[in-house]
Amino acid sequence: MERTLVLLKPGVLQRRIAGEVISRFERKGLKIVAFKLLRMDRSLVEAHYAEHRGRDFYDKLVEYTLSGPVAAMILEGEDAIALVRRLAGPTNLLEAPPGTIRGDYAAQTRLNVVHASDSPASAEREIALFFRPGEICPWEDGNGEWF
Ligand code: CMP
Repeated sequence: MERTLVLLKPGVLQRRIAGEVISRFERKGLKIVAFKLLRMDRSLVEAHYAEHRGRDFYDKLVEYTLSGPVAAMILEGEDAIALVRRLAGPTNLLEAPPGTIRGDYAAQTRLNVVHASDSPASAEREIALFFRPGEICPWEDGNGEWF
């Protein structure tokens, strides 16, 4: 079982599409095991996007990420890292097909709706940036009697 970090970027709350985006992950069968709304501060944004420092889009990416609250969540499931990346679609918007989150909701590569960890090492690093171990709530699928 894998865990991955997903961020719903500030535009998602502004556009009131958080539920629609989260439901893509839930419909696929992924489990939400941690969730919070937060305003990232500059040091967290810089740590999170450290690998992109120096790229031509970096300053605008930081500015956008600081522009409003984000929703951070940990999703759990078999091959969750690759699965979430496929649901999100490619970073380059022109390559993101309809049916993916970016293909359906994003109009610019920088404003690409979601961030999702790209490898087990990134997932581990990013989960630790956003969540303390005590904030993660694993749960088991029941047999339906509590529904
Ligand atoms: P994300 O998955 O959060 O990881 C890095 C972010 O940088 C990416 O989504 C985009 O928001 C942004 N980004 C990556 N490449 C480009 C690009 N070529 N032009 C503008 N923004 C980019």
